Amino acid sequence: MLKISVLVSGGGTNLQALIDAQNNGILKSGKIVQVISSRSDSYALERAKKFGICADVAEIGENFESKILEHLKKFNPEIIVLAGFMHILSKNFIEQCNAKIINIHPSLIPSFCGKGFYGLKVHEAVLKSGVKITGATVHFVNEVPDGGEIIAQKAVPVLPDDTPERLQRRVMENAEWIILPRAVESVCRKINSIFPYPIKYPGRGIITGCTPSGKIMLAYFIMGRSQSSKARIFERSGDDLIIKLTKQDKNFDPSLILYSPLRMLNGNLILTNGDQTDTIYDFVKDGETFEEALRTREYEPDPPHFTPRISAMINKSGYKQSILKKAGKYFFEYEFENGKGHLIHTYDHDVTPDKNLPSFSGEPREIKISEDVEEFSNSLWNELDKNYRVSLYVRFYDSDFKSYRDKLFNTNAN
Ligand code: GAR
Repeated sequence: MLKISVLVSGGGTNLQALIDAQNNGILKSGKIVQVISSRSDSYALERAKKFGICADVAEIGENFESKILEHLKKFNPEIIVLAGFMHILSKNFIEQCNAKIINIHPSLIPSFCGKGFYGLKVHEAVLKSGVKITGATVHFVNEVPDGGEIIAQKAVPVLPDDTPERLQRRVMENAEWIILPRAVESVCRKINSIFPYPIKYPGRGIITGCTPSGKIMLAYFIMGRSQSSKARIFERSGDDLIIKLTKQDKNFDPSLILYSPLRMLNGNLILTNGDQTDTIYDFVKDGETFEEALRTREYEPDPPHFTPRISAMINKSGYKQSILKKAGKYFFEYEFENGKGHLIHTYDHDVTPDKNLPSFSGEPREIKISEDVEEFSNSLWNELDKNYRVSLYVRFYDSDFKSYRDKLFNTNAN
């Protein structure tokens, strides 16, 4: 769960919209942990306290930004939301706070924005100009006031008898309070997500790496389209993992769907999407290497896809991954880097599951690993399409690389 600090200056109706969104489940990938106000009399502080959120004040004046940074240190939030915050933050501040900063602005940027355009002044300028449409914009903050990348916008009509106050209220109700929580959720979800891209049918996938504190981890998932492929479950067998069928089906090649995805040999964990697990196991047992084993194998004999064979081996000194596909045999070797891992899957990321399945392209994708096996495995499982996901196994070792915590998901009951 990402931590969100909200910076405010006034009434805090946008803060309230974020709190409401958190309470009704629209904002679920991040949690508001702190509100910092630039005014000690701002009503936003009362709103925060009412919901048990830490409320801090950094009054405008000398060392204004350092005071905010001091308060932020308490939580080290990944996200900072400027919700009715009436000050421009310096480049130096933005660089120092090490978080994504999101702002809500009450106009359609690039109109009526930048220095001097804040609060009611924006709506006064809109009315003076005679435009018939205004709105609100949520954007990332950079060193240019109201100049960062736009995340969301919503238009609102300007009506003939509008006053700045009436227009402000309409823009808030019909745009700001709607788009701000949704935009914050979508940014949090993107940061939290394991796949670096939206993905429909990755097929089978392997992740190896280590947690932020350096604990070794691995994950393996399978997805399926055919009945026989879907009728599978993962089961632990000692420290190994096996696949079983929930229904018997005579029309399939069992060697391609029933195999040991995970086997352990003298401190080496071997993880693959086929019976090449056994090939690697036998070679390594005889003193030969991961690469030597896989050079004797090739992609799967399942035209028209010719599904790649993906494999990994992980031990105390690092991990290797490989993909054997029609285009060639590829090997990758990594040293551990805290909080990072690599993901390789069988099919390319923009695959539509009812079409032919092109092989995974490029190198294994670097991904972020969290410290908590529950959190990591739940987000991975949730990112796999419900119509195709079959099983997932995740293991996080303790620092001794002997004991571990694991999590197993099966769509089918055993
Ligand atoms: C909102 O309209 C917000 O978009 C605007 O101030 C108002 C604050 O209301 N922010 C800016 O103008 C920032 N440049 P609130 O305190 O009730 O959320």
